[in-house]
Amino acid sequence: MAVIVEDISRTFQEFLLLPGLTTKNHVPSRVSLKAPIQRFKRESGPRACLNIPFVSASMQAVSGAGLATALARKGGAAFIYCSQPIAEQAAMVREVKEHKAGFVESDSNLSANATLRDAIELREKTGHSTIAITEDGGRHSKLLGILTDKDFWEFKDDLSKPVRAYYTPLEKLVLAEEGISLQEATEKLWKHKKECLPIIDRQGRLKYLVFRKDYFDHKSNPDELTDDKKRLFVGAAINTHDYKERGAALVEAGADCLCVDSSDGYSEWQADAVSYLRKEYGDKVILGGGNVVTKEGFRYLVEVAGVDFVKIGIGGGSICITREQKGIGRGQASAVLEIAAERDKYFAETGTYIPLCSDGGLNNDTQVIVALAMGADFVMMGKYFAMTEESPTPKVTYQGRVFKPYWGEGSNRARNWQRYKDSGGEGMLFEEGVDAYVPYSGPLSEKLNVTLGKLRSTMCNVGVLSLKEFHEKAQLTRVSELTLVEGGTSTVERFDRVQSS
Ligand code: IMP
Repeated sequence: MAVIVEDISRTFQEFLLLPGLTTKNHVPSRVSLKAPIQRFKRESGPRACLNIPFVSASMQAVSGAGLATALARKGGAAFIYCSQPIAEQAAMVREVKEHKAGFVESDSNLSANATLRDAIELREKTGHSTIAITEDGGRHSKLLGILTDKDFWEFKDDLSKPVRAYYTPLEKLVLAEEGISLQEATEKLWKHKKECLPIIDRQGRLKYLVFRKDYFDHKSNPDELTDDKKRLFVGAAINTHDYKERGAALVEAGADCLCVDSSDGYSEWQADAVSYLRKEYGDKVILGGGNVVTKEGFRYLVEVAGVDFVKIGIGGGSICITREQKGIGRGQASAVLEIAAERDKYFAETGTYIPLCSDGGLNNDTQVIVALAMGADFVMMGKYFAMTEESPTPKVTYQGRVFKPYWGEGSNRARNWQRYKDSGGEGMLFEEGVDAYVPYSGPLSEKLNVTLGKLRSTMCNVGVLSLKEFHEKAQLTRVSELTLVEGGTSTVERFDRVQSS
């Protein structure tokens, strides 16, 4: 007869944190959100860490190079999706690794024969008013000069005239040669009171532009997550089918972390993939595995597969229909609580700490906070990031509101055959994900700042200054349905809602 486990499957929404003593020391600016992402020994302490406990889901509608760059600049990491050809995934990883903070490749370039009208059209297309004038109009051709809005009057000059009569030529520009550091470039901009510094190579070809405004942007990202060569940190997903070739290409491209992307990680295929990659690359790359929802799954991934971190969650994702389709999964809170207890037991037994990632089903900032309090070291989110400006999908307007497309990796659209097909290779008989739209929420940085602000504030209420302390001291209570009603605003008319109805 089947076994019925004692526990009811519970979700984050069913819990509330209780406040602890907040001392005068507990202020948000002193809270550290560093989170380990690699297994470590008690005596040596944490090794690789995220600077904020957030990673983005390995999904086509979420983790492209643009979002990966933006998230690493805030201190988190993206997992570039593997439901694409190996070469394309490796190219995305490379793009993130090659991103040089403050050094941008010029996307607005014209030859000297182009007209002022061409310049205006280009400005409208790219939104950038600094145009590099190069020998053949190419991005990395010989630089001849720079044209900006200040060089001509749009409503007075003859727009059919070539830009050669207007741009500021090389000899009048302040330039720098490739190899200059960002700090030196910034000094140069400041000394000469310039807005833009073109960087050229020895042959005079344009390499990058450094802008004064980016210096301030850089200053506002003190948590940027980088590797030991100061390149942005990036993760990539792999599957249990082509992991040998894909793993090699991704490591070659510079991926810092690989994570097996599977809806059910408690499998021999996963152990084969992780053991192989560990043997090939040792500790050169961080290896994550999942997803699991039981302590047995956790032990298997840690002891048999040998992962660095374990990803938790089956069926909770916002686009996920696994539970409906297959009757398998677990409430995310129950899964995190059981596995965190097992992780702590494993730590006590062996002195090895295994970071945990709670993946999927986080619908708001409160649930993120509860997941971290319950023992997750960091959280993976899909919808949260799919809604942002930096996700790879286009914005669409419907009935006056702006949305972004968001679809599951197990949907027909993703054609992620590898992940959901069984070892028999039958292909996809049914879908495990839906194809949907989510409201557009603006730039990632602004959204994250709000979430991080709430997290730090709650941690102060609980009386902790680090995530480790949060795990140790958090006290939670289960809530009744009436408590949820009491916590809302159901007994008053909210002005914002009255207005919009
Ligand atoms: P979200 O943050 O609630 O949107 O969930 C994102 C997570 O859902 C991902 O990290 C995956 O673990 C999971 N996921 C992605 N695509 C699918 C799917 O098609 N079916 C089931 N789960 C999925």
